[in-house]
Amino acid sequence: MKRLQDKVAIITGGSGKIGFTTAKKLASEGAKVLLVDIDEDSLKEKEKEAKANNMDMSYAIADVTKAEDVKKYVETAKDRYGKIDLFFNNAGIEGDVKPIQDYPEDVFDKVMAVDVKGVFLGMKYVMPKIEDDGSIVITSSVAGFGGTPNMVGYNTAKHAVIGIMRVAAQELGKRKVRVNTVHPGLVDSRMTRSLLSGMNSGNMEESNKQFKAKIPMGRFAEAEDVSNMVTFLFSDESSYVHGSTFVVDGGYTPQ
Ligand SMILES: NC(=O)c1ccc[n+]([C@@H]2O[C@H](COP(=O)([O-])OP(=O)(O)OC[C@H]3O[C@@H](n4cnc5c(N)ncnc54)[C@H](O)[C@@H]3O)[C@@H](O)[C@H]2O)c1
Repeated sequence: MKRLQDKVAIITGGSGKIGFTTAKKLASEGAKVLLVDIDEDSLKEKEKEAKANNMDMSYAIADVTKAEDVKKYVETAKDRYGKIDLFFNNAGIEGDVKPIQDYPEDVFDKVMAVDVKGVFLGMKYVMPKIEDDGSIVITSSVAGFGGTPNMVGYNTAKHAVIGIMRVAAQELGKRKVRVNTVHPGLVDSRMTRSLLSGMNSGNMEESNKQFKAKIPMGRFAEAEDVSNMVTFLFSDESSYVHGSTFVVDGGYTPQ
């Protein structure tokens, strides 16, 4: 028996690196997956790839900052699959890499809209519909714990979603719906390249070297490292794990 046999999962940011890697992992464990993303072309590509590999996946186009879109993806999951068991509340953007005094106000607002309001709206509309004994994982970051210079938008947002998770944990415990956050370190991905290219005047080699030197395991995370943790948090193996923060960072965050 697969670990997530016949479970229905929604993944926001589902066509991104961590989202789609997790979607494939969940599908390989028997889940049906609704990919939610704003990027239609990428969603189409991902759906094609999933079909070619006999994975039970479909998509819904949505802007997670818009309540109407969020309500629609929740309805789509219910109409298409009959229920929602698992919710990976994961869509996010990185914003700019600039000191606070130079950080553009509109970029700060946009990061808050996607990374905080998008997560809030997902909780607001999924929580009433998710099955009792369901599981929710919100993607924060190692930036949710410490101060990262020049990343005030992202850093603030990733702290904020821990608060959303903790409130939800209090509200959902009685229904045995579990909720936790996952905190990836730098993943080998577009987002990491974007952040690193904003440092050291775009000298990627230097940025890479400096960051890897701070990671005891000496490498960036693979998206699979994150999806393995999310799969554990969605499975019955984590049935008493609730309201907690899970770091996947090769030892980067000091404990
Ligand atoms: N890549 C990393 O190093 C890293 C590290 C820690 C945490 N994270 C977090 O992991 C999550 C996934 O990141 P990723 O690395 O897969 O990045 P990614 O850019 O590959 O994926 C993010 C996805 O979110 C989608 N998205 C952006 N705005 C949206 C909106 N308004 N509505 C719907 N979808 C929207 C994008 O189209 C994209 O497909 C993010 O929350 C990110 O902050 C990433």
